[in-house]
Amino acid sequence: MKETLLELRGGKVQYGGITALDGATIKIDEGEIVALMGPNGAGKSTVLKSIYGLAPLAEGEVLWHGQKLSPVPHQMAGRGIAYVPQGRQVFKNLSVLENLELGGYALKNRADLKVNIESVLKIFPVLREKLSQKAGLLSGGQQQMLTIARGLVSDPKVLLLDEPSLGLSPKIVKEVFALVKEINTIRKIAILVVEHSIKSVLEITNRAYVLSRGKVAIEKADGEVLGSDALERVFLQ
Ligand SMILES: Nc1ncnc2c1ncn2[C@@H]1O[C@H](COP(=O)(O)OP(=O)(O)O)[C@@H](O)[C@H]1O
Ligand SMILES: [Mg+2]
Repeated sequence: MKETLLELRGGKVQYGGITALDGATIKIDEGEIVALMGPNGAGKSTVLKSIYGLAPLAEGEVLWHGQKLSPVPHQMAGRGIAYVPQGRQVFKNLSVLENLELGGYALKNRADLKVNIESVLKIFPVLREKLSQKAGLLSGGQQQMLTIARGLVSDPKVLLLDEPSLGLSPKIVKEVFALVKEINTIRKIAILVVEHSIKSVLEITNRAYVLSRGKVAIEKADGEVLGSDALERVFLQ
């Protein structure tokens, strides 16, 4: 049995009168890639934010290695959880290297920073060629790679990755997903990836959740094939 690393149990999040999450339970086991799918506004980003402490839980809890955890954003990287928000949020006026260095803010030993950046650059060789360039000058795909790379500099056990394919061409999306898979297999990092593009993400994942209106509507087990009728029901409603 694989150990469950991280779990959001019965998570409920409200923004004013809007219930963004309504009792969602989502878990990530050691070594797996889990997809979180669903239509716009279903609550996917809110799942990641609540786990990371960026959206307060009105009900429910976050468990890390089976222990209840009070999520506080600046403590999460130190615990082994990295979060890459949607929208390719690089620091445009800083160099690629400076962006990567910011990803290591929680490292206790500064010597680890260099080692970790070096190890991340092995996965993203395209960034190595551009270390001194301003991040704002990178292409969209390279900026997305930089945000993922920055998340990895803290040497996390779990990566929370929000819509890495947003606004990228199909060819670049393929590249990004191949890298996500590599991070999982080579670096042994468990990944919860939010994704709209069902086909590309299901090719690289073990399990999947489909959210609808803040609730888990479908839970796909490893090896199970999702019926298109079930997906249509959720996505077309
Ligand atoms: N900061 C916020 N203030 C108010 N409503 C929000 C906020 N963030 C998200 N919401 C609402 O919560 C719901 C879920 O949003 P979100 O988690 O971003 O969905 P998804 O990522 O699946 O598109 C939506 O109805 C959205 O409009
Ligand atoms: Mg979102």
